[in-house]
Amino acid sequence: MITETTTEAIYEKLTGLLSKTVPDFELRIKAELAAEINQLKLEKNAVILGHNYMEPALFYSIPDYVGDSLELSRKAAQSNKDIIVFCGVKFMAETAKILNPTKKVLVPSEKAGCSLAASITAQDVRELKAKFPGVPVVTYINTYADVKAESDICCTSGNAVEVVKSLKTDRVIFIPDEYLAANVARETGKQIIYPTRDPLRRFTEDLDYQMIGWPGRCEVHEKFTVEDIVNVRKQFPDVIILAHPECSPEVVAASDFSGSTTAMIKYVEKTNAPHYLMLTECSMGDNVAAANPDKEMLRLCSIRCPHMNQITLEDTLEALQKEQFEIVIDEEIRKKAYVAVERMLHIG
Ligand code: 13P
Ligand code: SF4
Repeated sequence: MITETTTEAIYEKLTGLLSKTVPDFELRIKAELAAEINQLKLEKNAVILGHNYMEPALFYSIPDYVGDSLELSRKAAQSNKDIIVFCGVKFMAETAKILNPTKKVLVPSEKAGCSLAASITAQDVRELKAKFPGVPVVTYINTYADVKAESDICCTSGNAVEVVKSLKTDRVIFIPDEYLAANVARETGKQIIYPTRDPLRRFTEDLDYQMIGWPGRCEVHEKFTVEDIVNVRKQFPDVIILAHPECSPEVVAASDFSGSTTAMIKYVEKTNAPHYLMLTECSMGDNVAAANPDKEMLRLCSIRCPHMNQITLEDTLEALQKEQFEIVIDEEIRKKAYVAVERMLHIG
């Protein structure tokens, strides 16, 4: 992706894509900020990676690459720039640092966390491993480096099923998203248990389970309900509903398609339905609508990710100017986490 460096060129691009949804004066201000960022990016030999959830004006003006967690991990690993600015949340910037440790990796806001990453600690993983010795640990990329370091392999929403299948073991520990785990269990035909939900529950070898989950949830995707789907279908019977696999298994089952953020974008691009509704962070609906003006995107926009929303053009400019907030990972932890992330990248 080539990013423009003059205010006029950026303003023109943003107007073409967003004039129906964003007021003109806002586009003008954002184009000025973006031009400053893109100039500085060249001067500092930096690359900007932007997650699909970034707000539309940022999404379409400053990232050299946009994508889902898997695609951006690959871009981070391949980058030969001195600075990687990650317009996404902290665990994503950490993954970039794990894969490309000699580069300076910056995340524009220190507040950009994630409810899934916050739901589990490295000690929790050690305890799970002690309880289920020898069972491989599959860890969702939405976790911090010390948790990845305790894991055998990572996965993203784009490759979770392939990663679990690749292990060819009877049992796996799959952490920390209970809904993603349940959705993977359904797709792979495995039975799942959540031992920590009832710490007093005793486990015997004859208990029939193949996946061991953890009760973490995405605070955005857990809010979508089957009732939302029923109501939308009542009003728009021809709607195609796409659900991120962090939604509950019931919501995924009631939807027409489930996949990573990029898989959802591609689905809309390749099909021709009268209406679409994506059950995911709302900004992505705006980004997809801008790129597909001939398609009708419905929105359930009361649900935003408070962490992704922290990343603004203003903060990104400041991050580049001051070279803040730098991701620092203990080298021992990074090396162990690298093994888990690298194994995942080999699989798909
Ligand atoms: P993707 O990997 O599908 O982009 O998802 C990341 C995420 O945080 C979803 O909430
Ligand atoms: Fe984390 Fe959910 Fe936000 Fe994604 S949408 S960053 S999983 S809190």
